[in-house]
Amino acid sequence: MARPQRDDELELDVDSLAFGGLGVSRNDGFVVFSTDTAPGDRVRVRVRKARRRWAEADLIEVVAPGPARVVPPCPYVPACGGCRLQHVAYAATLEAKRAHIADHLQRIGHLEGIEVRSVDPAVAQFGYRNKMEYSAAPGTDGALRLGFHRRGRWDEVVDIDACLLATAAGNAARETVRAWAQELGIPPYDQRAQTGMLRHVVVREGIATGELLVTVVTAPGAEALVDELIGPMCAAHPNLVGLLHAVNDGVSETTQGLPTRVLWGRDHFFEEILGVRLALSSQSFFQTNSQMTGHLYTRVAEAAGLDGSQVVYDLFCGVGSIGLTVAAHAREVIGVEIMPEAAADAARNAAANGVTRYRVLTGDVGRVVREQRESLPTADVAIVDPPRGGLSGRAIRRVLDLEPAVLVYVSCHPATFAENAAKFVLAGYDLEYVQPVDMFPNTPHVEAVARFVRDPTRVAEVRAAADAAASADRGTRPAGPPPPSDQ
Ligand SMILES: C[S@@+](CC[C@H](N)C(=O)[O-])C[C@H]1O[C@@H](n2cnc3c(N)ncnc32)[C@H](O)[C@@H]1O
Repeated sequence: MARPQRDDELELDVDSLAFGGLGVSRNDGFVVFSTDTAPGDRVRVRVRKARRRWAEADLIEVVAPGPARVVPPCPYVPACGGCRLQHVAYAATLEAKRAHIADHLQRIGHLEGIEVRSVDPAVAQFGYRNKMEYSAAPGTDGALRLGFHRRGRWDEVVDIDACLLATAAGNAARETVRAWAQELGIPPYDQRAQTGMLRHVVVREGIATGELLVTVVTAPGAEALVDELIGPMCAAHPNLVGLLHAVNDGVSETTQGLPTRVLWGRDHFFEEILGVRLALSSQSFFQTNSQMTGHLYTRVAEAAGLDGSQVVYDLFCGVGSIGLTVAAHAREVIGVEIMPEAAADAARNAAANGVTRYRVLTGDVGRVVREQRESLPTADVAIVDPPRGGLSGRAIRRVLDLEPAVLVYVSCHPATFAENAAKFVLAGYDLEYVQPVDMFPNTPHVEAVARFVRDPTRVAEVRAAADAAASADRGTRPAGPPPPSDQ
């Protein structure tokens, strides 16, 4: 097997897509991942990184396009780091996403023969995002660039005048901020020099309600300048419900957890999913594809198998959206959410929608469920929808403590899902199926709903084996204090 070196030029056939959107080829048996390539392509690439068992390469030229290659409709591909799969036919991206989940379950989870269903396609491949975060940076001439980071660059921004993943209203809101910044000569923030003023523009939208919430993030000292944005924003966007100003005085490029002031209107907007009206605070997490969220939640309800008699735990509940959309088919719903603003949204959303058999606990899933165990009802169904990092060991133990007969796992990351799934299977749950849903067309991200069912016989066997191992361990361990309890 010939190991390529950095800067080698290779001609390769692309077999498939790897997780992350890179094309996979074999060069004399050696695996090469390449950017901007599609299954079936014959390409010339230059090696950027060479490791012992694999290499990464950049596309130089497509020698012969494969059947899965399409012309990206966006002029910013490939400079913009946002979309990685616009050059691949939609059906091929869906199959790649399905294969990634199956492959991760097998390689990382060591779970064989799991039914991974074909991906539910998105209703729209463009204009679907209800949240966009634009970055500001100076160009080489010092002028404002407002858009997305250039691929692979933390300090450079590609100026965007129309993002195809954003809505028309979302694009227009960004342009109003740009015009304001240009007119007032507000300098963009330069990350290298740590100078300048305008840092980010966050546009959030209720797709069903049309409501628009815009947050402008600046360095300190822009208070008088941002007040000047109120007039043009209100004039250009009749659907604007709130204009916010957040101040970032640090080096990190965050838009979260910053001191924020309402310049005009309110600090939240409304969205409607499956007939439930949801208030969303500027900082609260919400699925970024509203059109597909109702479908995702329908898949969750299907996997939960609710008949009106069950107590449902909605863990990692955000603004309560999953729990509230399934509440009509449950006896009681208990949400758990770590972010106080989102938990407050969940409580307010339950009240506003007249859902009475609902309560939300604020705190870490790994702690709250144990701390309040005595006052909590027995779980029939647990739904978990963790962030990309998946469930911590402690959160997995808390879910197992609840002993739900059915566990529904909503995953946005196949690798952490596979790792977590293996632990639930080891503890006595059967993974019945995985239903992927495409919430993120043109990107490699994939969402999936998995149904696990508790097998009481296997759970008892696992527990008996664990007890036997613990007592054997106690028999061989010298006398001393007990091990620390599981927190
Ligand atoms: C992927 S979002 C899911 C939200 C919601 N289910 C939805 O569909 O919009 C994950 C949520 O978990 C919350 N979260 C993160 N870590 C947590 C933890 N350790 N305990 C409780 N909630 C957590 C986040 O604040 C976020 O709202």
